[in-house]
Amino acid sequence: MKNKYLYIETFGCQMNVHDSGQMAVLLRDLGYEPTDDSAKADCILINTCSIREKAEQKAMSELGRLMKLKEKNPNLIVGFAGCLAQHLGARVHGRVKNVDLVFGTHNIHRLPEMMARVQKERKPVTEVGFSSSLHSLGIFAPPPKGAVGAFVSIMQGCDNYCAYCVVPFLRGPEMSREPKDIVGEIEKLAGRGIREVTLLGQNVNSYGKKTGGRGDFVFLLKKINDIEGIERIRFTTSHPRDLSEELISCFGSLRKLCRHIHLPVQSGSSRILKRMNRGYTAEEYLEKVARLRRVCPEISITSDIIVGFPGETQKDYQETIDMMEKIRFDSVFSFKYSERKGTAAQAIEGKVPETEKKLRLREVQALQDRHTQEKNTSLEGSVQEVLVEGQSRNSRQDMTGRTSSWKIVNFEGRSELIGRTVPVRISRGYLHSLRGKQITP
Ligand code: SAH
Ligand code: SF4
Ligand code: F3S
Repeated sequence: MKNKYLYIETFGCQMNVHDSGQMAVLLRDLGYEPTDDSAKADCILINTCSIREKAEQKAMSELGRLMKLKEKNPNLIVGFAGCLAQHLGARVHGRVKNVDLVFGTHNIHRLPEMMARVQKERKPVTEVGFSSSLHSLGIFAPPPKGAVGAFVSIMQGCDNYCAYCVVPFLRGPEMSREPKDIVGEIEKLAGRGIREVTLLGQNVNSYGKKTGGRGDFVFLLKKINDIEGIERIRFTTSHPRDLSEELISCFGSLRKLCRHIHLPVQSGSSRILKRMNRGYTAEEYLEKVARLRRVCPEISITSDIIVGFPGETQKDYQETIDMMEKIRFDSVFSFKYSERKGTAAQAIEGKVPETEKKLRLREVQALQDRHTQEKNTSLEGSVQEVLVEGQSRNSRQDMTGRTSSWKIVNFEGRSELIGRTVPVRISRGYLHSLRGKQITP
């Protein structure tokens, strides 16, 4: 039998990357092998994101480009999945002809049936209904050979309805997986050589709250901390409103928990935070950061910032800059506000002009670059524990890995080190990475 090939292109967040892994597993069972060459593919899946307008445009243009391959290969199956597919549903077929499959974020587990229908009926299939179960979260995706880290979904959906955000509409209500299922999956990953797990959820701090009685996020972290073979635990994303005292204290007490937290602040103005429906003030955020640093002085703190939210005045914006100066984040993902259909922010008055948004974004990025560079330079001379992930892309002599604080470190070393944690003395701090020398005992 001829080999069949699957080409997947993924946009958006880690959650989507994780979902793409599930899709690959389901199609592998149907005999599809992964390929990096779209021209060779028998099936193409585009896993899309809808968080900002730009993400949507990218996904649509990729769909247009890849559809051309159907002219040469009429048997090619093209599927459009993920958050934008969830949003558009059958409208995708109106925009682009001959797309075989459109499926949403809750329909991944149905992929084998959908593929069978496409092959049998040769008619477009659309499945974007929400289900009340944890759809594909439990599908085990074996890590690629030699992988050191893996992502594990601990929950799906989001109930927060931040005024600017489409995620609750595209991923459905928040639901947590059972602790025993998560622990079982991580034990399996550890058995296959995984040393670091990153727990995924839109707001991991509310893990288990709805299920009740089966343990909260701190309970889960403690369970994972006991799993043999796992050396590092990370999680993303943490909502500042729900960051509890117990979780903060874990950064001082849980040995395997990495000394890094991604804590999206979004704005430094309490007035804007209120309009964003974030549920905390700038002062409360600062207080939580202070507590984190009290428990763990070396903790690295990263964040997300949106500029140009409706009604953001020069004064509000200045408060974001002041917040950045006070906290000095290790790094920040910053975005121009992008209006999304159906979100509460659409109705908020005071749209900020595009040129002003651009200006604010550029300033935020320049300031953050300065802070990141200062932080990285300050690490010169220090010794960092580096979990080695693989060979560096830039030099064959170099290994690459990350510090507990999530910074990339390159150093000269051999591939036997992959999967091990080694002490490295930092010689140089750059903007996006550190360089160092392994300390040999
Ligand atoms: N659940 C996570 C991640 C959400 S999406 C959290 O709550 O932090 C990642 C980031 O995209 C958000 O933190 C926010 O900064 C940004 N974002 C979301 N919607 C946006 C929009 N409409 N315009 C601009 N940025 C947006
Ligand atoms: Fe969006 Fe807010 Fe949910 Fe994050 S917590 S996914 S920003 S609604
Ligand atoms: Fe994008 Fe959906 Fe993630 S909108 S950011 S892929 S949850």
